[in-house]
Amino acid sequence: MNTQDVVSLSDQYLSRMYKHSFAFAPDRGVDDIVYSKDGEPYIDLYAGVSIVNVGWSNRNVVKAVEGQISKLFHMTSTYYLDYMALLAKRLAEVSPGGALTKSFFTNSGSESNETAISLVKRVSRRPYILALHRSFHGRTFYAMSALGQAMWKTGLGPFAPVVFAPEPFCYRCPLGHQGCPDCGYACVKYMEDVFRCEVGGESIAAMLVEPMLANGGMIIPPEGYFREVKQLLDKYGIMLIVDEVQSGNGRTGKMWGIEHFGVVPDVLTTSKAIANGLPLGVTLYRASLDEELRPGESYSTLGGNALSCVAAIEVLNELQGGIVERAGETGSYFKRRLEQLKDKHAVIGDVRGIGLFLGLDLVKDRTTKEPAKEVAARYQQELFRRRILVGLGGIDGNVVRIEPPLILSRDHVDESVEAFDDALSAIGC
Ligand SMILES: Cc1ncc(COP(=O)(O)O)c(C=O)c1O
Repeated sequence: MNTQDVVSLSDQYLSRMYKHSFAFAPDRGVDDIVYSKDGEPYIDLYAGVSIVNVGWSNRNVVKAVEGQISKLFHMTSTYYLDYMALLAKRLAEVSPGGALTKSFFTNSGSESNETAISLVKRVSRRPYILALHRSFHGRTFYAMSALGQAMWKTGLGPFAPVVFAPEPFCYRCPLGHQGCPDCGYACVKYMEDVFRCEVGGESIAAMLVEPMLANGGMIIPPEGYFREVKQLLDKYGIMLIVDEVQSGNGRTGKMWGIEHFGVVPDVLTTSKAIANGLPLGVTLYRASLDEELRPGESYSTLGGNALSCVAAIEVLNELQGGIVERAGETGSYFKRRLEQLKDKHAVIGDVRGIGLFLGLDLVKDRTTKEPAKEVAARYQQELFRRRILVGLGGIDGNVVRIEPPLILSRDHVDESVEAFDDALSAIGC
């Protein structure tokens, strides 16, 4: 099949719910390159939406899966499964502060959040969850209830009990401040007002939060934000669940995004890159919470299947073998090069990110910071024509998302930045 065949067949038989950005039909991937069905190579700066952190066709992951596939694909977790227990041990060891020593496995990020929410509600016996505006936690019912972007929710309510607070977005502060810490962490203070005016802090089981908001526009909270948040949550006995579905697994130059902020959560959820693309969701939590749970409290038929678990163990080996540090170094270099581009192109309002979790906020005007949505869409197309794959995000769709495989080469950073420069000039920005 060539690209056109795949496009025609998809248009005929696939649901309209699939949103295709452009006519790209991938055939295979190697390291940080993806080849189209027509045999053309593309530098992959999106990694299938922040998935293949240890590279396409990673030899060791492929070998581990091949070794398992002829033994067991899957077995019910009502038996004792070596691969599941071994992976849980490894995750406990790499968890923030080594403090989250219990694992429950599902198939996706949404399910790992769904599990986390049931767990904190069961333990605390409190009805509400606290989430942030512009957050993204998935499309299952409770995960969607906690999603802070109305465009994905309109017409689907009423939702499960969630209260929202403003996100820590200093570039476009939702409370109109000029930046942290001069504002005195106004968005955290506002959070306490949400408790006092809406449902009472004592009704909230946990805060569900992305340490860095990905889909919402690659938003990095300011230094000290999570320390302030944690103090407030502790005051009301509210637990902290960090959604590391995108910021985790080495992407930001540390194993977990929350490790940049010096706080240890009660629960951590992840998926996406943890098995380099095989379906796996993880809910990782403090052992003390386990005491309140009953055997059979939750079950996922395919969650933690054998192939995904052996792949994940190999992903952890690879990440701990130097890839996490490499993501930090390559990311700093990439960001410096993007900042140089900002000096040249007025449409780039902000360059932000940590490690290989990077965003370019495109604006119509640097003073008003009005989002340049149409420019972003054209820009993505222009980059595609130059054989570079990027994503778009932000509630206005104006943020170019750069989340490549963490093994991205310096040469490909340089090639990409040249293409970025050229494409912006081509669209007159
Ligand atoms: C931060 C975050 N949480 C949860 C999810 C949902 O994951 P999944 O699509 O695997 O259900 C996503 C998906 O993009 C995400 O970015």
